[in-house]
Amino acid sequence: MRSLATACWLYGLLLATIVSGVRGSTETEPDFMSVRKNVTREYKSEKKIPTEKYFHESSFHYHYDGRFANETLPESEVIPHLSALVQTYFSTMNAIGAETWIMHGTLLAWWWNQKIFPWDNDLDVQISEATIHFLAEYYNMTEHHFDLPDVDGGRAYMLDINPNYVVKSEQDTMNKIDARWIDMSSGLFIDITAVRKDENKRKNGHPEALTCKDKHHYEESDIFPLRDSTFEGVAVKIPYAYTWLLEEEYGPKALTQTTFSGHTFNGATKIWESTKRKLKRFLRQGWRGDDLPVRTSDLNPIIET
Ligand SMILES: *[C@@H]1O[C@H](CO)[C@@H](O)[C@H](O)[C@H]1NC(C)=O
Ligand SMILES: *[C@@H]1O[C@H](CO)[C@@H](O)[C@H](O)[C@H]1NC(C)=O
Ligand SMILES: *[C@@H]1O[C@H](CO)[C@@H](O)[C@H](O)[C@H]1NC(C)=O
Repeated sequence: MRSLATACWLYGLLLATIVSGVRGSTETEPDFMSVRKNVTREYKSEKKIPTEKYFHESSFHYHYDGRFANETLPESEVIPHLSALVQTYFSTMNAIGAETWIMHGTLLAWWWNQKIFPWDNDLDVQISEATIHFLAEYYNMTEHHFDLPDVDGGRAYMLDINPNYVVKSEQDTMNKIDARWIDMSSGLFIDITAVRKDENKRKNGHPEALTCKDKHHYEESDIFPLRDSTFEGVAVKIPYAYTWLLEEEYGPKALTQTTFSGHTFNGATKIWESTKRKLKRFLRQGWRGDDLPVRTSDLNPIIET
């Protein structure tokens, strides 16, 4: 069970989002449902492919935004910063009613123990077509301040929307990422990609076809209706057919293999333990086959449908 302190902190996060508002503005934050009809926008012609990249990663690391940092975080700081990124992102999006869900490596990490992989250095989320229009219209370049435990003065996060999101074509390879949620203290960010109707495929007999500029293709029923779960202790959405999506992207083994990237999954504690540390313990205790973690049957995350 989650500790009371964590629960209070998450509540604080949510509260911070609701009261923070858009910096420099005294208006209340528009909620998605209330402005749904205001945010329909035309996409640009398929023939007009931008010649410039909007998001610029830093010269020192491709997962950092160079506007906010000159160096990577110390290794031990990366996971806590990523955790705060995903918590602040979802608590903000949940508060404004934006439709967004975890995907790719982040979904795989969720599948195991609803926590970021200890070896991860990025996070992936997707958003719906209507939501990217909504965020572009009302939340581009907004800053969101949060109080965080053990962080003096808290942290600010910025939502930056790529203006080329109105170009649907996969040929726009320089602008595959539609938006970013950026930690202004470290430059670390979450990549946000929009999932759109695939008009070409729909015309050719695939009425559910969806597409992303990063060349991933889905059917509506793969993703919708979204399911409710938690990740890093915060309420998140996950795509409907998550097992199928994960097996297709990473192969069935990714859902059963308990050793990965120098870590072993402990089925009892549900924690990815560093193999180096484990190896030392084995050597100390002498090898015993039954010390190996065994996959338990209750591993699947709890899902509310
Ligand atoms: C949405 O559009 C309606 C009608 O066009 C307008 O009255 C309303 O002020 C708009 N709302 C926002 C938040 O822009
Ligand atoms: C990065 O370094 C440059 C040159 O030393 C400095 O001007 C800039 O303010 C630094 N940026 C950040 C975000 O620390
Ligand atoms: C968001 O704001 C930035 C900075 O003003 C701008 O360059 C960008 O085009 C805007 N994005 C959208 C979708 O309007």
